[in-house]
Amino acid sequence: MSALRGKRALVTGAARGIGRACAVALAEAGAKVTCVDIAPPEPLNGAVFTTEISDPQAVTTLFDKAGPQDIVINAAGILIEAPTLEADLDTFDLQIAVNLRGSFLVARAALIGMAAQKHGRLILIASELAHLGRAGFAGYCASKAGVIGLTRALAREFAPDVLVNAIAPGPTDTAMLSAQTMSPEALALETQNPLGRIARPEEIAAAAVFLSGPGGSFMTGQTICPSGGAVML
Ligand SMILES: NC(=O)c1ccc[n+]([C@@H]2O[C@H](COP(=O)([O-])OP(=O)(O)OC[C@H]3O[C@@H](n4cnc5c(N)ncnc54)[C@H](O)[C@@H]3O)[C@@H](O)[C@H]2O)c1
Repeated sequence: MSALRGKRALVTGAARGIGRACAVALAEAGAKVTCVDIAPPEPLNGAVFTTEISDPQAVTTLFDKAGPQDIVINAAGILIEAPTLEADLDTFDLQIAVNLRGSFLVARAALIGMAAQKHGRLILIASELAHLGRAGFAGYCASKAGVIGLTRALAREFAPDVLVNAIAPGPTDTAMLSAQTMSPEALALETQNPLGRIARPEEIAAAAVFLSGPGGSFMTGQTICPSGGAVML
């Protein structure tokens, strides 16, 4: 498969999970992939960078070094289960900082090069929980709903040259979805969708490859929701 042959791609959150699966899938489709994460990522067929995406200077330096890209996927993110009346404000702020501010910073830095070259595909990773809401996850849901609004605004601002879309995955088999991060009650909800299971990361990456390639050429401002039917829009 070579639909993305010759394309330059950069993926954040590429050390593991959905970001890693997206990076691998883009490379398999022919792109040269730069892998970025706060934890040092294993290289694929391009450069690697260790970057904190909520730090403006770090993100500027990243794109200065990586150069302009054809495809950027921002998959880095965090989830903290935090019942609203018990959680401290730092928990809320941290999720907004990484998930929403980080998305904005990566998007803005990517769009400098994409606007100049008059083409690009920018993909932000939201969550089905932006649509569904979930008790105990107010900060996470708010941050991911923000990502969807950000996607729509950027899609309008950078049309027609740059296509900006989001993927709002349902529960996916990664370290984020584990007993380390979520209560048994929250985990039990994750298979309650029409397909009755969680996703493999590759099933989310398939949406990213679609949005990056020829098939996604008339898509902008959209949020694709591979959620096993939990969300039907
Ligand atoms: N797993 C799910 O069920 C699920 C569902 C919906 C949405 N998502 C979203 O998908 C994305 C990927 O999640 P995942 O499941 O692969 O999680 P994960 O925890 O396995 O991977 C997240 C990656 O992001 C990196 N990261 C975290 N904070 C960072 C920062 N500040 N700067 C740079 N890198 C950072 C981590 O080091 C890690 O490698 C996230 O945005 C997440 O919110 C996941």
